[in-house]
Order: sequence, then C-alpha cells, then structure tokens
Amino acid sequence: MASEQSVEQFKSKARLPDFVVPKLYDLFLKPDLSSSFKFTGAVQIAVDVVAPTRFVVLNASDLAVKDGSVSFKKDISSQELVPVDIVTVEEDEILIIRFNEVLPLGEGILSIGFQGTLSDKMKGFYRSVYEHNGEKKNMAVTQFEPADARRCFPCWDEPSFKAKFKITLEVPSELVALSNMPVIEEKQNGPLKTLYFQESPIMSTYLVAVVVGMFDYVEAQSTDGITVRVYCQVGKSNQGKFALDVAVKTLDLYEDYFAVPYPLPKLDMVAIPDFAAGAMENYGLVTYRETALLFDDRHSAASNKQRVAVVVAHELAHQWFGNLVTMEWWTHLWLNEGFATWVSYLSADSIFPEWNVWTQFLSEATSGLRLDALDGSHPIEVVEINHASEIDEIFDEISYRKGASVIRMLQSYLGAEIFQKALASYVEKFAYSNAKTEDLWAVLEEESGEPVKKIMSSWTKQKGYPVVSVKKSDGKLELDQTQFLSSGATGNGQWIVPVTLCCGSYDVQKKFLLEDIHSKVDLTDLSGSWIKLNANQTGFYRVNYDQELASGLKLAIESKQLSASDRYGVLDDSYALCMACKQNLSGLISLLAAYREESEYTVLSHIIGISLNIVSMVADAAPELLAGIKDFFTSLFQPFALKLGWDPKEGESHSDAMLRGELLTALSELGHTDTITEALKRFNAFVEDRDTSLLPPDTRKAAYVAVMQTTNSSNKSGFESLLRVYRESDLSQEKVRILGALASSPDPTVVLEVLNFLLTPEVRNQDVVHGLGGISIEGRDVAWTWLKDNWEYISKTWGSGFLITRFITYIVSLFTSDEKGNEVEEFFATRTKPFIARTIKQSVERVRNNANWARNIKSDNSLGDVVNELLVHKV
Ligand code: BES
Ligand code: ZN
Repeated sequence: MASEQSVEQFKSKARLPDFVVPKLYDLFLKPDLSSSFKFTGAVQIAVDVVAPTRFVVLNASDLAVKDGSVSFKKDISSQELVPVDIVTVEEDEILIIRFNEVLPLGEGILSIGFQGTLSDKMKGFYRSVYEHNGEKKNMAVTQFEPADARRCFPCWDEPSFKAKFKITLEVPSELVALSNMPVIEEKQNGPLKTLYFQESPIMSTYLVAVVVGMFDYVEAQSTDGITVRVYCQVGKSNQGKFALDVAVKTLDLYEDYFAVPYPLPKLDMVAIPDFAAGAMENYGLVTYRETALLFDDRHSAASNKQRVAVVVAHELAHQWFGNLVTMEWWTHLWLNEGFATWVSYLSADSIFPEWNVWTQFLSEATSGLRLDALDGSHPIEVVEINHASEIDEIFDEISYRKGASVIRMLQSYLGAEIFQKALASYVEKFAYSNAKTEDLWAVLEEESGEPVKKIMSSWTKQKGYPVVSVKKSDGKLELDQTQFLSSGATGNGQWIVPVTLCCGSYDVQKKFLLEDIHSKVDLTDLSGSWIKLNANQTGFYRVNYDQELASGLKLAIESKQLSASDRYGVLDDSYALCMACKQNLSGLISLLAAYREESEYTVLSHIIGISLNIVSMVADAAPELLAGIKDFFTSLFQPFALKLGWDPKEGESHSDAMLRGELLTALSELGHTDTITEALKRFNAFVEDRDTSLLPPDTRKAAYVAVMQTTNSSNKSGFESLLRVYRESDLSQEKVRILGALASSPDPTVVLEVLNFLLTPEVRNQDVVHGLGGISIEGRDVAWTWLKDNWEYISKTWGSGFLITRFITYIVSLFTSDEKGNEVEEFFATRTKPFIARTIKQSVERVRNNANWARNIKSDNSLGDVVNELLVHKV
C-alpha cells in the first residue's frame, strides 16, 4: 500500500516495480553534433497507474533531469501534480519520483525534461565519426540493447514493458534523420528542421532507434510493397546493393514462413562506422557495422559476402522473433538470439542453396559445444541476472549457438512441417506481446503431440550436454550417456536425447529418445559395415565410439560413404575427446589422415582450425615433433591448395573461393616456403597497384599473414607496406582483414608494436578485437604483459560492454600451463566486475584444460611414430 512504500525499498532490485506501466512515449530529442555533444530531450509518457502508489520508479542513467520539469497529470486538462522528491540511484540506474499524494488509478501523463551526452562508448545515444570530403563529421546513433535506452531517455527499460512510441527529432536541415517509423511531417526553422515520426505499434524500449547523419541510400520494394532502404556513406550506396537484394528476398521468405506480414510500413538498414555488436535489429531501423552490411565488388571476399547475407537474415528474423514477439525477460534471450541464428540459415539456404550453409551451421554448433563443455558454462535459460550490466555477457555462444542447435535438434525430431506450423501459431498468438521459453514449448507440444516441454527443458534448464558412449556386444548396441566436460571430468547432468542412428547406409535410420543413463538397442534389423549416431549431426551431443566402431567409421570416411556433416561430426567429436584427454593425439592424427581427399568446405575449414591448434599445442608440449606435425598438415593441405591456385577460376563455387583463402592462409601460418614466396610476390604487386588482379580479396589475408610471418624487428618493410594499405583503405572489411593478420608475427617485439598500434586513434575501438584475434603463440607473453599494463585504460575505454570480454578471452586462452592459469586468476582477483566474471572464470578454465591436454600430449609415446609413419607412407 502507498503509505508503506519508501524510497529504500526500490533500491538494489533486478527488476522495476509494475504498479505504474507505460503505454505511449511522446519523445523529443535534439542532439548537438557540432560542439558540445550534448542532447536535450523531453518525454511525455502516457501511463497506467494499476495500483495505488505515491511513487513512480523508472530507469535513467547518465541523464540530468531538468529542474522543475517533472510532473504528473491525470489528463491534458487536469491539474499538474509536482513531485516532492526525485531520487537518482546511479548504481541501480533508476529514478524514484515521489509524490505527496497517492496517484489516481488509471491513465495519467508523466512529463520529464532532461539532458545527456552523446557518448563515445557505442551505447545509449552516442556519436560515431566519419569522413566527408576529407573532413571529420559526427553522426548520432542509438544502441539500446540490452539496457541502454535509459541512457537516452527515462523509461521502463525492460522488454516486457511494451509501449507505443511517437518520436520527434530536431536536427540540422542538411542531415538525414531516421527512426523506427517513417516521417509524417517536417518543419523547417532556419538551419534546423523538426521531424515528426509516425506512432509505432507497441514495442520494447531496447528496440527504439534514432540515426542522424549524412547518408546516401539505395531502395527497393518487397513483394508486399514494403519500402526497403540501405543507407551508406555518401558516394558509397553501391555497396549497399547486395544487402538490399538479400533483405527484400528475406522479407518475402519470412512473411511466408511465419505466416504474418512484416509488421511496419518501412524497413531501413544503416551502416554505422562505430558499432559495438555486428548488427542490431531495431524495429524498422536495423543498424550494422560496415563489415556486416556493405559489399564492394572489387575488395570484398566471398566470406564477407556470406557474412552480410547471414547478418541481414538474422536481423530481419528478429523483426518477427524478438520484435513482434518479445522475450518476457533476459532469461529468455536465447529465444531471440538462438532463433534468429537458426532462421538466418534457413533464409541463407533458400537464397543461396549452393553455399551449403546447413553444413556450415555445424561450425556454429561446435562453438556452442566448446563453451558448454566448461564447468563455467550456464544454462540456456539464465536465471541469475542481478544487474543490467550482467546481461551483456549472456550474448554468448550458449544463447546463440547452443540455442540455435537445440532448435535444429527439435526441428529435426518433430519434422520441418509441424515445426513451421507451430512457429507460425506461436508468432500469431504472442504478437505484440511477450513470451517465455515454456510458451513456445506449449505451442509446439500442442501442434506435435510430443512431450516437447519435458524433452527441451533438459536442454535449456541445465548447462552442458551428454557424450553418448557406444559399444557393440552380443548383437546389441550399448549406449551410455554422461555429461561431457572438456576437463575430462564426468559431470552429473542427464538429458533426453533424440538419437538417430544409421547403419551402413542412410536409407534405414533408427530414431528414439534416449532418457536413461544406460540402454541397449537391438541391431537385428540393421546391418552394415559402419554405425553412425547423430545422423547428419542434427543433435547437440557428442558420441564416443569404441575402437571397433571407430575403425568402421574411419573406413567409411575413406571410402566416401559418410555425408559431409557426418564426416565433420566424427572428426569434431574425436577432436573434443582428444582435448579432454579421452583419446590420444596420435589417434586423432591417424583419423585426420583419412581426410586426405576431403573437399567439402566446412570439413576442410575445420581441419585447418584443428591443425593450427594442434600445432600450437605441440609447440609447447612436444617441440621435438613440431616440424613433423607441420609437414603432415602441409601435406594434407597442399594438394588441394595447388588445385585451387591463387587465381579465381571462371565460374568457380563460392566455397572454393573461401577455401582458397583459408588453405593459403593456413599454409602461410605453417611457414610453407613456396606459399610464402608466392604470397610476397603477389603482395608486392598489390602494394604497387591496389587493383591488380594478382591479389583478389579472397587471397589477401593469406598474403598479409605471409608478410607478418616474415616480419621481424630487423625486417619491417613488408609490415610497413601493410600498414600503408591499412591507412589508405577506406573499406572496413579491408582494414579488419589487415588487423587480423598484424599480430601473427613470430617476433614478440613486432607483436608488442602491433598491440600498441591497436590502442592508437588509427584503430577504431570497435576493431581492436580483430587485432587481438590473430596473436601468434610466440607473442602471447608480451600480449599478456601488455594487457596487464594497459588494463586500467582498457577497462575505462571499453567499459562494461561485451567487447571488453574479448580482450580477456583472446589473450588468455593462448596459454597452456597451470602456472599461467594461476597468474591470470590472481591478476583478475582484485579487478573482476560482475560483467566480466563469467569470462574470467571460463578463460582460466580453458587454460587449465589446455594444461591437461599438454600433459597428455607429452605422455603420448606413439605420437612420434604415428607422424613419421604418415609422412613416409602418405597413408
Ligand atoms: N541483438 C543482437 C545485437 C546485440 C548483441 C545487442 C549484443 C546487444 C548485445 C543482434 O541481433 C545480433 O545478434 N547480432 C550479431 C550478428 C548475428 C549475425 C549473429 C552480432 O552482433 O554479432
Ligand atoms: Zn540477434
């Protein structure tokens, strides 16, 4: 009751009280882009007082409320109530507005005037810098997800407080100003103009968006008549054409798939030069990093093209899944991100069937499986969110990749048709509203008649996943499930696993739910020379075969009887078991030899990743074998690299273009002399002429890595040329490609120089992570010292966003000893914050797992012989 409420009781709460709820925000914003970087704002919020109260509690952070600007009115004509007290609680990011009397129940209008600063932190209402005619200009942009709308205007900044928005902007007349809805009226007043945007349907605050700057655009219409535009920097609108085409096709596809029309009158997509995430699905105004939206015919690679297609498809999926139907709370974030990730593959597969994206999807699954094998993982449904700053950290491989993978598993268990029908009725049922994970299960359960909630809760409410151990005995297959942990320990989780099983061919498949720890499968109706569980890898679990079954699978791989997905799966499971010390490295290496004729992009790309990781482990654990191991991998890659060559072939496939780049990059990293010599020759031609045909975009990364492989403190000319290319390029994809190679030099002094370069104004804050992604093993010690030395600056500059977590993961995970694990733990013991706590724990755990693996490799007595044997006999 009102009289019992006090200011204190609203503090330190994870969620806002709901006795006053917003219905319509009438929001005015006026950014100053030329000098002060301040913005002024005013908001009138039509609210519903649903319980008697003297308080209004809402979010605000880093905002100055204007003196005397706060008031409450029953309606426009009634008398104003003025608060007796406005308490700003910065730690909780709330405003507590206290009135002398109890507010009248029902409708009311709350008015607040305020001022804020356009920050340079890529969140809230912030500024981004671009060049126009050689002059630096500022644009004003919003990024509100997960909880930064409160830095732009006072609001109920939680996804379940959906309301309508009527936005008005006052901006310089020469600029383009965009928001979620189209402009309905424009008024000029001198050098400024006021733009009135159409009122939006109800939506969550994290999806509100505003962009103000100079842009050109390209435009097209969806079949349904929705105007779609891509806004790019002035003069570069050609680079938006590819994304525009994908967007239009994707809209058509989703309208069909979700059986609900696109809910808004227009869709704008904008490239923002400074952007923390990859892209953001703001309702009707999707914002992107330049690398995720723009495609340049001459300088973008095939992988860049695919990234654009997938990101656009992902963000557009959110327009339904997330924006129209919104998670009730961040616990259900995976409903947004897992679904959008899964659906984006559906779209990419339909527009570009030749890309085989569903096979590529397996690499998403793998990174989910990797993180989820840590003790420091978390359930898909994250329960303990105590403060808004902790939300950022759950935008991780669990929410996205495990989330997408369990959806795929369920879809393949229920069947595509039933699944789509259920999704459509879910969207219809919860449109303009919020949903929880269980709401989705209920709809799927109704549509399919299967116990969806029971099956799926075992995947979303507990962390981790099972490894199913399989052996044959007495004509039966014995299955055991235990929780897989990369430490090698056995966890005590238990799952309901939709198992699929093929025997000797794909024609006959057994399907069943594995619930118990132990079970047996009758094999009498099955015969064949190999048995593969998790057919085509649609399930989120691993399989550990006994020796006999494993040999059968190896032969099946060699004789090309397994599908690409299954070849991927057998290898990935074996690799994971090896890292967890459940199999020896020598066994994994012999298995790899079965992939000599592998040509599927996803499988080969994974082999490349595995090989580079093995090389860096062996460098630590068994340096005497390093040369042999490198030769083995070189011999695995070279034939195919030779076949693909450096120059694109007329009409070649998308995946050949991507493979060429990855193979040549790997050979450069492995120090393969012929590759490096050729790379340097082509690089020199490129430095002379950026339009040379000798170094097409797909092969550039390989050349850049070769340059850095041969750079050391006494020979820096290649490095300097590369920096020149970096400085002269105005394409973000090119800059990022270069950053990804710079720190790969084997000379620690060069690595340090590169790391320091990353902190100069020449590298945008958003891009530093790309530089950290490429640090060589030889450079890891200087990198760690650099991180410690600069930690204060880094934490101040990158603040509480998710980008800061990458500084830790990329550098720390290079270590392979317990001593380093302890050192990292000690360093962060006094520096941890709620928003990096998970990351620190996970990174230290990875180091300890590496240390275990390194010990295991050291004691693998047959490794040397296996490698020699493979090299001599090329078997
Ligand atoms: N909703 C996210 C953007 C986001 C991420 C906001 C983290 C706040 C914190 C967006 O839909 C997204 O998932 N973007 C991805 C790209 C996607 C293709 C996986 C990203 O930013 O990497
Ligand atoms: Zn997303």
